[in-house]
Amino acid sequence: MSNPTLRYAVIGAGGISAMHLNAIATQPGVEVVGISDPADPAKWRTPDGYGHAPKFTDPEKLLRETKPDLVSICTPNKFHCELTLLALAHGAHVACEKPMAMTLSEADAMEAARAKAGKHGAINFSYRNVAAFRFARELIARGDLGKVLRVNCVYLQSFLGATATPYSWRNDLALAGFGALGDLGVHMLDGVSFITGLDYQRVVGLAQTLIPEKPDAAGKIQRVTTDTNAAWLSELTGGVIANFETSQVAPGYGNYFRIEVSGDAGTLAVLSDETDALWLRAGPTLTRYATWKTDLPKQALPTDFMSGFKPVTPGGIVRAIRGEANAEYPSFADGLCAQRMLDAIGRSMQSNAWETIG
Ligand SMILES: NC(=O)c1ccc[n+]([C@@H]2O[C@H](COP(=O)([O-])OP(=O)(O)OC[C@H]3O[C@@H](n4cnc5c(N)ncnc54)[C@H](O)[C@@H]3O)[C@@H](O)[C@H]2O)c1
Repeated sequence: MSNPTLRYAVIGAGGISAMHLNAIATQPGVEVVGISDPADPAKWRTPDGYGHAPKFTDPEKLLRETKPDLVSICTPNKFHCELTLLALAHGAHVACEKPMAMTLSEADAMEAARAKAGKHGAINFSYRNVAAFRFARELIARGDLGKVLRVNCVYLQSFLGATATPYSWRNDLALAGFGALGDLGVHMLDGVSFITGLDYQRVVGLAQTLIPEKPDAAGKIQRVTTDTNAAWLSELTGGVIANFETSQVAPGYGNYFRIEVSGDAGTLAVLSDETDALWLRAGPTLTRYATWKTDLPKQALPTDFMSGFKPVTPGGIVRAIRGEANAEYPSFADGLCAQRMLDAIGRSMQSNAWETIG
């Protein structure tokens, strides 16, 4: 029996809306019933193929008139919570962008409303789509690295420091809630817990704004109120130390997201730019000798792993809504875990001390 049509709407027609439409609207039996954005449609960044979709400036009108089964929330962070609650109140499942919310209390409210409505809620932790990240998770879960002992994670970009990048909502604390910490940091927090399978216990962190102002597209100087770089140290389940550094102003770095994990039987590293390979040395021979010439060889992922590999976000939620076996997507609960860490890092910056995860 074929699936009934799934009515799909997108709120926020900026850059990331293309990823949602390409992953969700391209699935069989999905109909795009509307797109909403307050900006002039000539400036929307949705792919050309969706130009025919009914256009709205008011998200409530979109939801009331089109009655979607699933809504993607692709707006600046400030609107994630209110639009998620609105979409759930109109009976829709929700695929929301990261970070889940501006505050922990917003994220809590989103998950509570989702559970009460009995709907699916996804957060687009897009690095879960990287084959190397998933293979690393599989190796660690199978015990190939032994007991996990240490984690190092960096996520560095340069775009914000570039004169070519104008001031945007991403630099405004009132619209973004965070700078590098929330924009890149949530990917790091989710990536490390996803790959290691460990939970966060406590954290101490620091963030700074290294570029105090930037010209906007009209040339007017605006104050940057978000952090441009952050670092934090955290303790994971079993006392594992994980350290993290992120920056949006590190010259020379485009999109450098690296996670390295050592266990007592080996070390691996994954890099966002190398989706089909990882760096790996593991096995009993390594632990027999005290020292080695430092060498972490790059290995292509097994071809049979690659052939079975499918992206899980943001499209996985469609398979879950349809009740398909083994459907998988990063959930609101996963978004909430990362949000708890962002909240604890913020508290640590206030208290100048370690904070436990609330
Ligand atoms: N998962 C990822 O890897 C990833 C990558 C990029 C962006 N994002 C996230 O996606 C979201 C949007 O980022 P973007 O890069 O698409 O930004 P963008 O600036 O390209 O687009 C944002 C769009 O939202 C619209 N908008 C603003 N207020 C709105 C409202 N109240 N209702 C509806 N639309 C509204 C704007 O007009 C604009 O078209 C952010 O939360 C960001 O963190 C995630």
